[in-house]
Amino acid sequence: MAAEVIAIASDHAGVETKEALKDDIAAAGLRVTDLGTNGPDSVDYPDFADALTEEIGAGRAERGILVCGTGIGMSIAANRKPFIRAALCHSATEARLAREHNNANVLVVGARSMGIETVRDCLKAFLETAFEGGRHQRRVDKMS
Ligand code: RB5
Repeated sequence: MAAEVIAIASDHAGVETKEALKDDIAAAGLRVTDLGTNGPDSVDYPDFADALTEEIGAGRAERGILVCGTGIGMSIAANRKPFIRAALCHSATEARLAREHNNANVLVVGARSMGIETVRDCLKAFLETAFEGGRHQRRVDKMS
């Protein structure tokens, strides 16, 4: 079976964090699709959230990671799509629960509001945790 594809995107505030997370995703044996941005020039986070949600919507990626300064703009932008459950997480516990209870398909982190080690812990929990289903499936279905 082919390795899961994880799409990743950031605005200018999250480029360095995105690069670090790409390495972690690849080290976990998963495939990475980098949708930019790739430099320090100021860009608009909704454009990159849209690129990532389109990748998931088209079935080219199973899950995604979004990074901006706070994670807030990317969360708002991504969650406009009915098939996206984007979770802004500040701890590994939140990232684990976002998978177990909410079947989150996008992890959002803030490059300016979180330390890189906490961000990497969130990524690890997000990648390694499965959805629990059961009573949580009914709740997730109500949002689709
Ligand atoms: C960019 O300056 C900043 O506004 C953006 O990265 C993000 O934090 C928005 O929510």
